[in-house]
Amino acid sequence: MALKDELRKLEQDTLSSVENASTLQDLETVRVAVLGKSGSLTGYLRNMGNVAKEERAEVGKAVNAARQAVEEAIDARRAVLEVAEMDARIEAGAVDITLPGRSQQIGSRHLINRIIDEVSDIFLGLGYTVGVGPEVETDYYNFTALNAPADHPSRSMQDTFYVRDMSGDSAAVRGESDVLLRTQTSGAQVHAMEDKPLPIYMIAPGKVYRRDVADPSHLPQFHQIEGLVVDKGITFGDLKGTLDHMCKQIFGSNRKTRFRAHYFPFTEPSAEVDVSCGVCAGEGCRMCKGTGWLEILGCGMVDPNVLQMSGIDPEIYSGFAFGVGVERIACLKYNVPDLRMLLEGDMRFLRQF
Ligand code: DAH
Repeated sequence: MALKDELRKLEQDTLSSVENASTLQDLETVRVAVLGKSGSLTGYLRNMGNVAKEERAEVGKAVNAARQAVEEAIDARRAVLEVAEMDARIEAGAVDITLPGRSQQIGSRHLINRIIDEVSDIFLGLGYTVGVGPEVETDYYNFTALNAPADHPSRSMQDTFYVRDMSGDSAAVRGESDVLLRTQTSGAQVHAMEDKPLPIYMIAPGKVYRRDVADPSHLPQFHQIEGLVVDKGITFGDLKGTLDHMCKQIFGSNRKTRFRAHYFPFTEPSAEVDVSCGVCAGEGCRMCKGTGWLEILGCGMVDPNVLQMSGIDPEIYSGFAFGVGVERIACLKYNVPDLRMLLEGDMRFLRQF
């Protein structure tokens, strides 16, 4: 019977297509072509009406047998392909747990800021306030109100950046502007005395600027922390005790301090403070140039003129002031040999702190 041969051929072809389907998608295409609504095998079932009555049972049996064989083959092939595709997906999404991880880089505070925080904490613990002054300052706050009137020789101790007035004011263009980048944080003292109620116990950290070329011991921009106390009955003993406490907190309780007479226009008497060398414990070494001491700050009793200029009666009030270089503390505490290293942003250097 020709029909039976036809069916057998269709079954054989379909079974080999099923076997050759390499994806679930291919398999589905084969299924639809044979068993779908207008599939080839479905066509035989549809056409049963045209088959002669006496042959119908036999043809029907043959078509159903073919359909069953094809369905079984498809189900078996589907099971195999599903496992293979799952394996492929797992393989593709696999994480290589032997690769080193990409660690998150966590930033930290720069050494300069850390020291400012550390010194601020020491003085907050003593009941001081922490303030800031303006970096662009007038000549009055940077010099005049600090007892250094025009032509005072102390002005030449600090080479100043003047801010040029772009309006074309000829005095400013000639460098006679009275607006400047502050050379010291001491102007914060004047702002505090003008603005704050008495008594005053404050520090003011911040940036200062000087016309210096950067070298191992100079930077054109650096940081200072200014301190000011104004109250009744403040003595040089208060100054010494406070700064000795600060040095021991920063460098360690075994360090000694010494006060050397010095000159600053805004304090009288004035002193420079040295801390005993941490490398040789005061014996004398290269770090301290054989002296056993390292200079760390300037200080003194606020000059009565300075109090008076800011409207404070020096007959009733007295005070002390100090100014300490933040980079200097960093170098002395961590033996940094060159100030410029603090600004270069070299992570190998910065990570050490
Ligand atoms: N302003 C001084 C400087 O930059 C440091 C200083 C010295 C500040 C003595 C003070 C002080 O308040 O009393 O060299």
